[in-house]
Amino acid sequence: MKKIVILVCLLLTVIACKKEQQSTNTLEAKVSELLEKMSLDEKLGQLNLRGTSSRVKGKLSDSLKQAVRDGKIGAFLNVSNTAFVDELQRIAVEESPNKIPLIFARDVIHGYKTLFPIPLGMAASWDAKIAENSSRVAAIEAASFGIRWTFAPMLDIARDSRWGRIAESPGEDPFLASKLSEAYVKGFQGDSLNDPTSLIACAKHFVGYGAAIGGRDYNTVSMNEALLHNVYLPSFKSAVAAGTQTFMTAFNEMNGIPASGDKKMLTEILRHDYGFDGFVVSDWDSVEEMIAHGFAVDDKHAAEISLNAGLNMEMNSKTFEMHAKKLLQEGSITEATIDALVAEILRVKLRMGLFENPYRVDNSDNLYAAAHLQLAKEAVVKSSVLLKNDQNILPLASETNIAVIGPLADKPREQLGTWSFDGDGKYTKTPILAFETENVNYNFVEGLSYSRDKSTQDFSKAVAAAKQADVILFIGGEEAILSGEAHSRAEINLPGAQEQLIKELAKTGKPIVLIIMAGRPITVGNILNDVDAILMTWHPGTMGGPAIHDMIFGKAEPCGRLPVTWPKVAGQSPIYYNHKTTGRPVIPEEFVQMDSIPIGAWQSSLGNTTHYLDIGYLPQYPFGYGLSYTSFEYSNLTLSSNTISENNDITLKVTVKNTGKRTGSDIAQLYVQDVVGRITRPAKELKGYQPVTLKPNEATELTFTLSLEALKYYDNDVVFDVEKGDFNIWVGQNSAAGLMTTIKYE
Ligand code: GLC
Repeated sequence: MKKIVILVCLLLTVIACKKEQQSTNTLEAKVSELLEKMSLDEKLGQLNLRGTSSRVKGKLSDSLKQAVRDGKIGAFLNVSNTAFVDELQRIAVEESPNKIPLIFARDVIHGYKTLFPIPLGMAASWDAKIAENSSRVAAIEAASFGIRWTFAPMLDIARDSRWGRIAESPGEDPFLASKLSEAYVKGFQGDSLNDPTSLIACAKHFVGYGAAIGGRDYNTVSMNEALLHNVYLPSFKSAVAAGTQTFMTAFNEMNGIPASGDKKMLTEILRHDYGFDGFVVSDWDSVEEMIAHGFAVDDKHAAEISLNAGLNMEMNSKTFEMHAKKLLQEGSITEATIDALVAEILRVKLRMGLFENPYRVDNSDNLYAAAHLQLAKEAVVKSSVLLKNDQNILPLASETNIAVIGPLADKPREQLGTWSFDGDGKYTKTPILAFETENVNYNFVEGLSYSRDKSTQDFSKAVAAAKQADVILFIGGEEAILSGEAHSRAEINLPGAQEQLIKELAKTGKPIVLIIMAGRPITVGNILNDVDAILMTWHPGTMGGPAIHDMIFGKAEPCGRLPVTWPKVAGQSPIYYNHKTTGRPVIPEEFVQMDSIPIGAWQSSLGNTTHYLDIGYLPQYPFGYGLSYTSFEYSNLTLSSNTISENNDITLKVTVKNTGKRTGSDIAQLYVQDVVGRITRPAKELKGYQPVTLKPNEATELTFTLSLEALKYYDNDVVFDVEKGDFNIWVGQNSAAGLMTTIKYE
C-alpha cells in the first residue's frame, strides 16, 4: 500500500512539474512569437511608460491615441478617467500592429478609496496579515478603475525622521521590513496574476533611497557592501521571493552610480543573484536626471547607460523613445539587449492575462465597503502607538467631559496622509465626527486652524473650553503635505504654534491627552512634561476617527510598537537601534550632561564616549516601544541548548504574564548580538517577534526558534557567513529592554 501511495505522489509531482514546464514553455513560446512579429518601433514602444497627470481634464489627444495605435506606448501612469482607460486599451488591443495590451499604473500606496494608515503606521502594527489584507482591499478597489499596476510597496529602510518619505517606509529594521514586503506583494498581486483584481506590485525605490544624507530627499547615498546587503537589500530580496513582477529604480545615486544606470544592482544583483524575472521601471524622469547627477552627458547617453544597465521601462522622460534607434544603429546597444528588455515586459503582461482579458472589470460598488472600512479601523488600532500614559489616564471613562482642541481634530483630507489623492475626504471619519456619532460629552475649539498656524488669536477660546472640561484632548501633528516626497524637515517638532497652545492649556491644570497625526516621529521634548498621555496614530486614514474614539474610551487598545527609533531632537538623526557599539560605547554613569559640566572643566575630564553633551545618547522612545492599557511581566527565559550549530537550532521559551487589570496585547521581541565578528556587528538585531494577548493574571509561554542561518551576515566581500563565538540574546518588549541570556556557536 505504502509503495502505491509513494508512486501516486511521485506521479502527481511529475504531472505538476510537467504542467509547470508546459506553461513556461507556452509563455516563452508566446513571448518569442510576439518578438518575431514586432517591429523595432513596437519593441521600443513597450519600453515607454507615458506619465500623465490625473488632474488633466478634457479629452484624449489624437496624437496620444495615434501613438498607442502605432504601438509606441507600453503603459500609462495616472490615467484616472475610466473612459480614457477603456478607449486607450481598445485602441491598443484592436488597432495596434500586434494588439499588445497596455498596463495602467497608479500609486496605490496605502489604499485606493478606503485609505489605511500610512505605511510607516502599518509597519507599527508589526502585523503582516493586516498589511496583506489592506493591500488586497486596495487592489480590489483600484482594479475597477483599470489600474493593474501599483507603484508599491515602498521598501526603503529609513533611519532619519527628517526624511519626508519615512512616512511611506516600512521603518528602520530589515527583519520587520522583509515580513511586510512579502505581505504587501501577496496582498496587491493576490492569488493569481491573471485575476482581474490583481495589481502587479512594484518594489521601490531600488536601492538605498532612505539613506539619503541628512534626510534630504533625492540626496547622496554612500554605503559599504555589508550595510547594503545586511540592511538595505533584504526587504527587496523578500519582494522577489514573494513574486513581485516589477521594481522601480530610485532617484538617488549609490556610491556614485545613479540607480537607473546601475548595472551591478539591476542586472548582477537583482536578476543574476536574486533571480528576478519581471521588469524594472525608472522613477519619474530619473533616467534623464543622470545628466543632473553628472553621470550622463546628454539624454542619449542617459538612455544608453540605462538600457545597458537593465532598465526596461522609462517613466515619463523620453530618452528611450528619442534615442534608442540611433543607439542601436551606432552599436551602443544591441538588438539582443532590446529584445531581452521587451521580453521581460511581455512576459509580465502575459502572466497578467491581459491578452485574453485586457479590459477592466468594474466592481466599483465595493468602494468603501463596510468590510473595507472595518479593516481600515482595525488597522488604525493595530498601528497606533501609546507612548505615554501617566497615571493611566487612558482609557477615559465614557462620561468624561472633554475639551477637544487642535488643528487636526476635524480635517478629513489631512488625516489621510501622503499618497491619498484617490481617497475622498467626504468618506473620512474624523475624530469629531466619531465623537458626534458616539454622543461623546465634548466641546470642540480648534485653537489653531491648520498645523502650521502661528496665530494665537483663538487661544483664549481654547483655554476657556479647557477650563470647563475634565480632560483636554489635543489632536495635532502635521498636515499631510508636511511629509512624503520632497517634504523633508530639518526640525521635526509640532509645527506652527501647537507647542505654545499646549503650554497655555497646561496652565489650566487639566490633564492633557495628546494625539499626534503625522508622517514621521515628532520630537515632543518641549511639551513632554505638559501632557499626561501621548498616542501616535500616524496619518490614520479614512477610519481614524472611530478608531481614536474606541482607543480613547477603552473599547480598543492601541497595539502598535515603534517601527522606527523616536528621536529627542532632529539633531540626533539618523538614529536607529541596530547601531554599532563603536570603540567608545556610552557609559551611562560617566555621562555628564552639558549643564552639569563644571565651569573651566579640564578638557578630558568628561566621559569620552559616543554621546551628545546636550541631549545625551538615548532616543525619546526606542525601536519596538509601545505601551498597553495593561502591564506585562516577562520571566523564565530558557534555552533548549547553550550552543547553536548548523544542525542544532536553539529553542527559546519565555513566560509572559498580564499583571494588569484588563485584557491587553503586547509584541514579544527577540534580539541578538553577535559579540565578535569578522567585521563589526550591530549592538542588537531583531530576529523574531510574536504578538501575545492575555487576560488579567493570565500567563503563557512563548517559543522562539533561532537557527545558525539567522545569525549569518554579509561582510564587505559579500560573503554570507558567521564565525564561531558568543551571542547575546534578549527577549522583551522593545529594543531597549528584555531578559538576557547568551549562547555559543562552537
Ligand atoms: C514619484 C515617486 C515614486 C512614484 C512615481 C510615480 O516621483 O518617487 O515613488 O511611484 O513618482 O508617481
